[in-house]
Amino acid sequence: MRAALPDEEQITVLLDGVFLPLSQARVHPLDRGFVYGDGVYEVIPAYGGRYLRLEAHVARLERSLADARIKNPHAAREWVQLLTELLDRHGGGDASVYLQVTRGVAPRDHAFPDCPPTVFAIPRPLKPVPAVQLDQGLKAISCADMRWQWCQIKSIALQGAVLLRQQAIDVGADEAILHRGRWVTEGAASNVFAVIEGAVVTPPPSNWLLHGITRDLVLELAAQVDLRVDERPLRLKELLVADEIWLSSSTKEVLPVTRLDGVPVGDGLPGAVWRRVWDAYQALKAELRAQ
Ligand code: PDD
Repeated sequence: MRAALPDEEQITVLLDGVFLPLSQARVHPLDRGFVYGDGVYEVIPAYGGRYLRLEAHVARLERSLADARIKNPHAAREWVQLLTELLDRHGGGDASVYLQVTRGVAPRDHAFPDCPPTVFAIPRPLKPVPAVQLDQGLKAISCADMRWQWCQIKSIALQGAVLLRQQAIDVGADEAILHRGRWVTEGAASNVFAVIEGAVVTPPPSNWLLHGITRDLVLELAAQVDLRVDERPLRLKELLVADEIWLSSSTKEVLPVTRLDGVPVGDGLPGAVWRRVWDAYQALKAELRAQ
């Protein structure tokens, strides 16, 4: 028997349409998620008890399920209702909800089984980004992207990403920025931006990267604060001399990278362009909290 987590009784989770304490949630060991990593997921942030871009996350979940050919057990409207109820039960404050859908429980066989998918979702408090990361920025390393070729699916099979992130951590860095040959794709768990001659450059959506919800938001906010936005393939050699580098994700928001492969990015401090977008991001969060 594994030891119970400290607050399992207090955490309400969603399992196959039922809300129950985490301590009572049980998933079968033959679940395809456990045996094959055969599932997809979402991480959805909320501020002051309100989701940020819930509909976009649900739409991406639908695309991941369709690409992975996993049955979608709910219409978009039902996903919104279930996830909203889960967050309401969690209470106010800032939170992030992890949602995963697997192909379900069946005897081990690669062929698709005929069974209902398993749905699991859990809310957790979303801690503020540590001040040191805002003041000093992150360290990143560049790594060859050795993951598979369907990176647009938000797959729970994350061994490639886990190994790449750990490669960064092992050398005292925070994130691995990935490239396929000369082209930058994304971070191990984030999207990548570069500021080049005043423009915000990020690779366009494709099968080589996850179409990040925060990525789209960052591009919108950049346009709002009158920055030029350029969605185009980004060369690694451009990244290595960019004025600024940023990473985005639902839990990191948008953070500056101030060292890449041990070399300072720009003047080695969080950039002024990043700051404008970050300020706009904080203003948006404040609006949500005030609703
Ligand atoms: N990861 N690219 C990858 C490979 C990711 O894993 C993530 C997010 C992103 C950013 O996507 P979004 O802005 O929609 O969060 C890009 C989540 C947060 C995770 O695995 O925890």
